[in-house]
Amino acid sequence: MRIAITGGAGYIGSHTLLDILGDGHEALVIDNYANSSPEALARVKSLSNRTFEMSEQTITDQPSLSETFQQFKPEAVIHFAGLKAVGESEDIPLTYYEENIQGTISLLRAMDGCGCKNIIFSSSATVYGLPDYLPFDEAHPTAPINTYGRTKYFAEEIIHDWTKTDPAKSAVVLRYFNPVGAHKSGMIGEDPAGIPNNLVPFIAQVAIGRRDALSVFGNDYETKDGTGVRDYIHINDLASGHVAAVDYIAEHTGFEAINLGTGRGYSVLEVVAAFEKASGKPIPLRYEPRRKGDLANSYAECDKAKRLLGWHAQFGINEMCEDVWRWQSQNPHGYRDN
Ligand code: NAD
Ligand code: UD1
Repeated sequence: MRIAITGGAGYIGSHTLLDILGDGHEALVIDNYANSSPEALARVKSLSNRTFEMSEQTITDQPSLSETFQQFKPEAVIHFAGLKAVGESEDIPLTYYEENIQGTISLLRAMDGCGCKNIIFSSSATVYGLPDYLPFDEAHPTAPINTYGRTKYFAEEIIHDWTKTDPAKSAVVLRYFNPVGAHKSGMIGEDPAGIPNNLVPFIAQVAIGRRDALSVFGNDYETKDGTGVRDYIHINDLASGHVAAVDYIAEHTGFEAINLGTGRGYSVLEVVAAFEKASGKPIPLRYEPRRKGDLANSYAECDKAKRLLGWHAQFGINEMCEDVWRWQSQNPHGYRDN
């Protein structure tokens, strides 16, 4: 298939691009490098031994996106491009709506302009909000509790309405739980700008000596050890979930929302222990109050992905930490080392 990948230079996009190329598809990356580096794409090129097209542009510029699509003629789009920091989304909500909502509408219009009827969208478990029950299944009510989560929820609804305009249209929205890890080669991985918001990148920077200690946000939750529990999923599992979704949309029409997780939760302290084992480095801890907006527990029901996509996660927490450590120790300052 000819597949356009928005945000293909980013963390999840670059790993997915590698698998999409490995599966024999033709790819066009669209990225404005707002949160990524051309070096990631150079490394994907060398790892895959394949070429792909790249257009440096913003998806919110609809006329120029349409022109790019008229030339490439994608048969499917994987839509990663957008902003993703929860705290920032509360400070600059309109920017989040412009990038994540207007960007999605602009993309759907460009797809309509060239007759492309298939889309896979990066959504998030954050669309569920507070759990009525666990594990979260796809029928769980959606009630996001922050601006970022609402942009994902609204984008899902817009894509759903778009599929209703033509019986040949097909959309899969993938609700990711907590993506972590890096490619086995250690050549591509997560490269957050500034202070990492997420747990595993922060731990990795403590282990490499860039930060002195991990702040543990709350140890009084009703969980196994009082710290927050999440469903961490290896980035290579997440990438192969997208390849399975491409196969699915080629054969099916309509709209589906599908969780990508492992179904198993780990506490902050369990992740720290796994990372210490993988890296051989001690991770000093500092206990702090709960972070605003955090859940005690979040983990996925994964049956739908298995049933519809024939996909399930293969890697566990030890491999996630080993692979993050390989990436971090080979690239202490991420792509900026190059
Ligand atoms: P990322 O920031 O590494 O990747 C996003 C990419 O999109 C970057 O390369 C950035 O430069 C690009 N981009 C941003 N705005 C753009 C625009 N207007 N035009 C063109 N390119 C643009 O993030 P990621 O972790 O790879 O996440 C990818 C997607 O998955 C995002 O939509 C995110 O909301 C979603 N998601 C991520 C997580 C996570 O934990 N990483 C969890 C759930 C959902
Ligand atoms: C965060 C986002 C969520 C997003 C997800 C993507 C918030 C409130 N939520 O979720 O919308 O979809 O990332 O992966 O930002 N922790 C620490 N110390 C740290 C960092 C985290 O103790 O320095 C704890 C958190 O309190 C939580 C766990 O580690 O219990 C995981 O945190 P994080 O990696 O930020 O993921 P989420 O909170 O699940």
